[in-house]
Amino acid sequence: MIKLTPGPSGVGVRPLRIVLPGGSGQVGQALARRLQQQGHHVTVLTRAPYTAPWLTVHWDGETAGDWTETLEGADVCINLAGRSVNCRYTADNRAAIYDSRIGTTRLLNRVIAGLAAPPRVWLNASTATIYRHVLDRPMDEATGELGGYEAISKRRHAPETWNFSIQVAKDWEAAFFDAPTPRTRKVALRSAITLSPTPGNAFEVFLNLVRFSLGGAQGNGRQFVSWIHEADFARAVEFLIEHEEFEGPVNVAAPNPLPNREFMEALREAWGMPNGIPIPWFALEIGAFFLRTESELALKSRRVVPGRLLEAGFEFEFPCWPEAAEDLVRQWRNRE
Ligand SMILES: NC(=O)c1ccc[n+]([C@@H]2O[C@H](COP(=O)([O-])OP(=O)(O)OC[C@H]3O[C@@H](n4cnc5c(N)ncnc54)[C@H](OP(=O)(O)O)[C@@H]3O)[C@@H](O)[C@H]2O)c1
Repeated sequence: MIKLTPGPSGVGVRPLRIVLPGGSGQVGQALARRLQQQGHHVTVLTRAPYTAPWLTVHWDGETAGDWTETLEGADVCINLAGRSVNCRYTADNRAAIYDSRIGTTRLLNRVIAGLAAPPRVWLNASTATIYRHVLDRPMDEATGELGGYEAISKRRHAPETWNFSIQVAKDWEAAFFDAPTPRTRKVALRSAITLSPTPGNAFEVFLNLVRFSLGGAQGNGRQFVSWIHEADFARAVEFLIEHEEFEGPVNVAAPNPLPNREFMEALREAWGMPNGIPIPWFALEIGAFFLRTESELALKSRRVVPGRLLEAGFEFEFPCWPEAAEDLVRQWRNRE
């Protein structure tokens, strides 16, 4: 049994060796900080080592090298490597998005299979975007339908950019699970948008819309937003490490996704902004073009629920968006 946090008596936990390939980004930094504060030995694998309270070790994400020693005898591997999807899906960017996820996962599979003492558990990033555009019912791991070329209205099919994201997610999970690692338990993190009160996070994008009076609904506002507070993301990761019954894909999302119109309304309320101008879909498309990003984040309906986590008794600190929004706004204001 892997224990990360002490029980009520405060005993029974030994420091773990935890390796985070791609742990230098938004999610990885928050996780590394938390795990390090708990007394664990954290190593981040990065293409550009930097000074941090934890160890950062060079890897290129493509070839085996000295960095493989960090995984020998480690307890946990959490792979978060992937070129940001916050860009236009040009041919070059598509190749980078794809290769940085599927390539690093295949490389880790090869390396971990060859270790004398491989990590006992490996969590690999995946995404809640793997499910279809959905308005009608929640998607859990057992009954959810994976997306790809689905109809999104009577006249329209999912845009090709959405299909690309879904194909990346499917191939990413296939690269992860297809190679057997009998001594290493594997969990794919089908994460919703992880919201943190830090610059550069998706929360800042939504908050800026509110602050500049553009915080009305995006598109028709009926599309669902799946989200998770960063504190619950970290707690869910710990839960998945500790609970050995988990293997395979797991939805890491708050249990109450909500329509975009209500999501923006709650954020406006948390910020104290009574009104917000709505942004119709064509304006979003134009805005995304000039911001060199894609409109998928705002317009695809993600109604993902954490079936397996809830079934196993995981309790969310922030199950509902209004309270999460208030907490994130409070932290944002304290930071400012
Ligand atoms: N944040 C979310 O809301 C969310 C939701 C669902 C899924 N995810 C997935 O979770 C993972 C982590 O998310 P994040 O927000 O922390 O991402 P992030 O801030 O973009 O960080 C990802 C890290 O991947 C590394 N990387 C980029 N290109 C690479 C390449 N070609 N080869 C090897 N490593 C590369 C970078 O590390 P170095 O430059 O230091 O090497 C970077 O710090 C990503 O795979 C993302 O798709 C995130």
